[in-house]
Amino acid sequence: MAPRHLLLSLVFSAVLVASVRALETAVQSPQASLRTPDVIFVPTPREVVDAMLTLAKVTDRDVVYDLGSGDGRIPIAAAKAYGARGIGIDIDPQRINEAKANAIAAGVTAKVTFLNQDLFTTDIHEATVVTMYLLPSLNLKVLPKLNAELKPGTRVVSHQFDMAGYPPERTVAVSGRNIYLWTIPIRPPQAGNSKILEVK
Ligand SMILES: C[S@@+](CC[C@H](N)C(=O)[O-])C[C@H]1O[C@@H](n2cnc3c(N)ncnc32)[C@H](O)[C@@H]1O
Repeated sequence: MAPRHLLLSLVFSAVLVASVRALETAVQSPQASLRTPDVIFVPTPREVVDAMLTLAKVTDRDVVYDLGSGDGRIPIAAAKAYGARGIGIDIDPQRINEAKANAIAAGVTAKVTFLNQDLFTTDIHEATVVTMYLLPSLNLKVLPKLNAELKPGTRVVSHQFDMAGYPPERTVAVSGRNIYLWTIPIRPPQAGNSKILEVK
């Protein structure tokens, strides 16, 4: 091959390889997990979502953060049924994509935001209500962050899992599951703390 043709061929190959790599990066980046999720996606049933938002007394003045938001059903319900602003945080980009599509389908894109972030490093200070469906150990792990970042009076509702050593103010049973309510600051029990059990 003549030197000029060889040079052109090399340049063409280099450009081709660079283009393929750029395309791979563009395709892969939105799907790349930040790290392995701490818990897999298991959706909260609709009636339990509603009971959680009712337990927290959500109104249109609230900013509801769902830590580990899955398909976005809690922030979307908070926006659609209660007029609140909803923020969902999920470490799995696939869940974030689903949540955004669900928000479009529900017509609430102006009121909800979904962030592909690690819940342990996201700034949550503006929340007035926090919802969680994680694990007992994760609830305890996130507790210092809740107390440090959230304003006093912010309501925290957990589906299924409580926080050992930190009795909830209220426990409600719905569809065979418990949901738990605390108010910031969440402290260990003191004399006189009461626990109310209701069954719907
Ligand atoms: C049990 S699902 C709950 C989904 C939704 N909140 C609901 O109640 O339907 C837990 C979610 O947490 C997400 N997750 C796990 N570890 C996380 C982390 N460190 N930061 C953000 N999201 C996380 C998972 O991807 C999953 O979607």
